[in-house]
Amino acid sequence: MQNDIQEVLISEEELQAKIKELGAQLSTEYADRNPLVICVLKGAFIFMADLVKRITVPIELDFMAVSSYGAATKSSGVVKIIKDLDTTVEGRDVLIVEDIIDSGLTLSHLIELLKNRNANSVKVVTLFDKPSGRSVKMEADYTGFVLPDAFVVGYGLDYAEHYRNLPYIGVLKPEIYTT
Ligand code: XMP
Ligand code: MG
Repeated sequence: MQNDIQEVLISEEELQAKIKELGAQLSTEYADRNPLVICVLKGAFIFMADLVKRITVPIELDFMAVSSYGAATKSSGVVKIIKDLDTTVEGRDVLIVEDIIDSGLTLSHLIELLKNRNANSVKVVTLFDKPSGRSVKMEADYTGFVLPDAFVVGYGLDYAEHYRNLPYIGVLKPEIYTT
């Protein structure tokens, strides 16, 4: 698996240091608010696990799985809910935990959905941001790392469902895509 990686972009140590920082900021913002922290599956599952360990105030967790429709309908920003929340968001302070923002379509749809369900507030923390990929205006409230426009894997992110279990973020060798 490691042999398929051309370059490590962000090491395990760098990831953990940044997540510690984000956790401290979120602990201040959400003190005494008992936020509902929502993990967007599958990509964000490792980030979610590491992040919540760095949040030192009471929170509740929930999980949601979504998938974007194919390229033709992607411009509508419609995402399909594969697994919905177990929790009612009405009146809650909601924090969405995302792995990566690219076009911004997935998140803008999710935010819309949660606002329509009358959340008190909806904010986003993303570990990675690829601003060059945007097709809609979308900015996270908290961002870990800004990435160049390359396809990355590891730390929850996959290529064809593989590499999610790498503890760092890397770029695949080009021959992996072509075989
Ligand atoms: P949007 O809607 O912002 O979608 O275009 C974000 C989703 O796209 C996927 N994505 C990636 N997955 N490596 C990945 O493994 C990448 O470099 C990458 N860029 C985008 C990801 O599922 C994310 O939630
Ligand atoms: Mg993916």
